[in-house]
Amino acid sequence: MPHMKKGKITGELKNKSKDLMTVEWKNNQVVMIDQTKLPGKLVFLRYKKYEDVARAIERLIVRGAPAIGIAAAFGMSLAAISSKAKTHTALLRDLKIAYDRLRSTRPTAVNLAWALDKIMSVATSKTNVEDIKKSILLSALNMATDDITTNKKLGLNGAGIIGNDEVILTHCNAGSLATVTYGTALGVLRAANDMGKKIQVIATETRPVMQGSRLTAFELDYYNIDVSLIPDTAVGYLMSKGKINRVIVGADRILKTGHVYNKIGTYQVAALSKRHNIPFYVAAPLSTFDLSSNVNEVVIEERNKNELMKMGNKLLAPKGIKVFNPAFDVTPPELITGIITEKGILMPPYEESIAKNI
Ligand code: MRU
Repeated sequence: MPHMKKGKITGELKNKSKDLMTVEWKNNQVVMIDQTKLPGKLVFLRYKKYEDVARAIERLIVRGAPAIGIAAAFGMSLAAISSKAKTHTALLRDLKIAYDRLRSTRPTAVNLAWALDKIMSVATSKTNVEDIKKSILLSALNMATDDITTNKKLGLNGAGIIGNDEVILTHCNAGSLATVTYGTALGVLRAANDMGKKIQVIATETRPVMQGSRLTAFELDYYNIDVSLIPDTAVGYLMSKGKINRVIVGADRILKTGHVYNKIGTYQVAALSKRHNIPFYVAAPLSTFDLSSNVNEVVIEERNKNELMKMGNKLLAPKGIKVFNPAFDVTPPELITGIITEKGILMPPYEESIAKNI
């Protein structure tokens, strides 16, 4: 495809001084790390069309709640630049088509809708075609810069609670690769590590898409943070043996009640943490809060059955078997010790602390 040029990366992958930039705007193109190729290859893809950005979000080339929000915002900028509209009404019509397509890509992470709504409200506040185009790009660029600042603040807030010599378990990938860079849950770990705290991280594989083994293990190793991989099924065993001091995960959506939507399996980890008296923290920016939905209104994405049926070309289950493949679950507030944000750490009862601070 001519609009999707593969970039190349040369030299050592391990370069602690260089942040992994998951999604960026360069020369009127969206540049993204192809996360489907990790950990084997660090490949950058360039996109000129919003339709291809939408497909990249669906195919998990870019994934993670904040990262898909920023990718979609840049997608809107591509839609604006490529529009041939001469009037602001015609441009807004083109933008609405792009908005609907990008918004339809993944239903659960609220950051996607948050970013797209922000871009649309900037667009509708202007009446001149060139102003609209410029302000969309500026707004998307600001969102990307804010994402990094936010993660660093959130990281510092969370690092304060981490003690020396802790072993911390994380699930899925809430790191650099799920944001523009730096990460949320892994941002906390990075900040603690940078403060000189000695930490060990346990990463779950995170079946079936393996964000833990492919992405979290890769990025913590890249940043020289001590990481060990375990099967998802070993969480209870390790906790029962007293091997885990704390859990920190990210979030795709947090409701006003404190219910947290995150990668499938998070609820099991939280329930086991409660059983073993292990503090269970969620780290997420304010853009992940959805104060208007109720718990039974949020759509949990169901993904293709082939994620369970196949490993490459190898069949892992009998052909034609029924499969249920939800990508997210909901952790109820009573299992959550604290929610780390850029504004500070929210404590229970969440209905009160969220209403007061968010
Ligand atoms: O399906 P994914 O890989 O997009 O799911 C990602 C997660 O569930 C992350 O934990 C979440 O987005 C937090 S990212 C800072």
